[in-house]
Amino acid sequence: MANNAPIGIYDSGLGGLTVWREVRRLLPHEALVYLGDGKNCPYGSRPKEEIRALADEAVGTLVAEGCKLVVVACNTATAAAIDFLRAKYAPLPIVGMEPAVKPACLATRSGVVGVLATERSLDGDLFRRTAARYGRGIEVLTVPGRGFVELVEQDREQTPEAEACVRAAVGGMLDRGVDQIVLGCTHYPFLLPVLKRVLAGRDVTVVDPSPAVARRVAQLLDEYGLRTADKGPGRCRFLTFADEAYRLRLEKKAMESLV
Ligand code: DGL
Repeated sequence: MANNAPIGIYDSGLGGLTVWREVRRLLPHEALVYLGDGKNCPYGSRPKEEIRALADEAVGTLVAEGCKLVVVACNTATAAAIDFLRAKYAPLPIVGMEPAVKPACLATRSGVVGVLATERSLDGDLFRRTAARYGRGIEVLTVPGRGFVELVEQDREQTPEAEACVRAAVGGMLDRGVDQIVLGCTHYPFLLPVLKRVLAGRDVTVVDPSPAVARRVAQLLDEYGLRTADKGPGRCRFLTFADEAYRLRLEKKAMESLV
């Protein structure tokens, strides 16, 4: 059975485009609707109840757009609301962002793994459970990426200020011997060029979970029999709770991210 309805992808802002890009590359025939809240971004230090209400409104919007599957491409919203969303919108398949602690813990040789994420993601149960399950015998260092989301939202990823923020966040981890750094927020891969500069000459692997999330989407489409029958490039649309200027930024950044 085929289903030509779109896949919905949601984030607090521009960050989920790092997941959108991987889904687009892996599933080019699927129509995609991206919703970047924009009006309430950043979510990172908001109370859980508030994030849950925002995520509810966003997923409700994507459902009203006729989406057959929704990706919550936001670690913070996943941590605050994934169980609630799955229960409320059942049987809609919903993919969330798992902190990629498992692959990092399996790959580490130094026994020290660093995780960069927002405050709210790091103090959530989801993260605690994952770290407890896979981090046994391994030192898991967590650091909030202070200022990272704002840098990306303001298109300031390539500034000296961005480099200073990244250096400040990873300095302590490097001193303690990390050889894996997990990106636990979907905004952070936009800072990869700066992070790579900061890590130059060091034997540190950066773990970005977005390709694995795209593979999970493909797997669920097959499981539910939801792949499109379309053979051409799928239509991509962009929505926001902010204004038209922000919507156009989403569209532009998405297209730039593909090249
Ligand atoms: N991109 C989001 C995440 O993955 C949210 C960042 C924010 O709005 O603070 O956590």
